[in-house]
Amino acid sequence: MSELGGRPCQLTVCRGCCCGKKKKVPGVDHKAQLARLSAIDDRSGRPVPVRTSKCLGICFQGNVVVVQPSQEGRAAGGRPVWLGQITDDALVEAIDDWISRGGPGLAPLPDALVDHVTSKDAKKPKKRKRPKNAKKAKKAKKERKKAERKAEKKAKKAAEAAGSKRDGGKKTTKDRKPKKAKKNGKAEKAEKNKRGGKKG
Ligand code: FES
Repeated sequence: MSELGGRPCQLTVCRGCCCGKKKKVPGVDHKAQLARLSAIDDRSGRPVPVRTSKCLGICFQGNVVVVQPSQEGRAAGGRPVWLGQITDDALVEAIDDWISRGGPGLAPLPDALVDHVTSKDAKKPKKRKRPKNAKKAKKAKKERKKAERKAEKKAKKAAEAAGSKRDGGKKTTKDRKPKKAKKNGKAEKAEKNKRGGKKG
């Protein structure tokens, strides 16, 4: 099969809910990127068909671009290559360079794209999660402490009650507050007189 007769490489450019959206993928001129991808020719000088698609299901990798092999590339074992985080002009240039050299199956993947190879099954890296049932455990701990405090209070009360029962409910001298010594005017006077008499 001649090179010119076969189907050229094709590009699928995701423009779904996240790819191509400034809010989700900031810092990229998405329109210009699509225009640049649409201007790529293959190694025979044929324009590479570009198809925009709805969400391809790996939004965390936006912008996603899939490079389909040419007919010749597929025959040589090339398969569609999913590229994620295409957010740099240099990466678009690398795609252009790759396709112009034959694309999947015919030319090695440029180094610049190696770290961007992904797949439709790529899993979003999980955020560090709080341990399961952390909320429940926290609540249970709080309740346990509350119950402990309650039990402590109860035990203290019971001990106090037992103590007062032992003493027949009467206050011991220990329990009694020291009374303020009443000023006894008469006694004081008598004491003074006594001392005065001794002197004289
Ligand atoms: S919008 Fe592109 S993968 Fe979801």
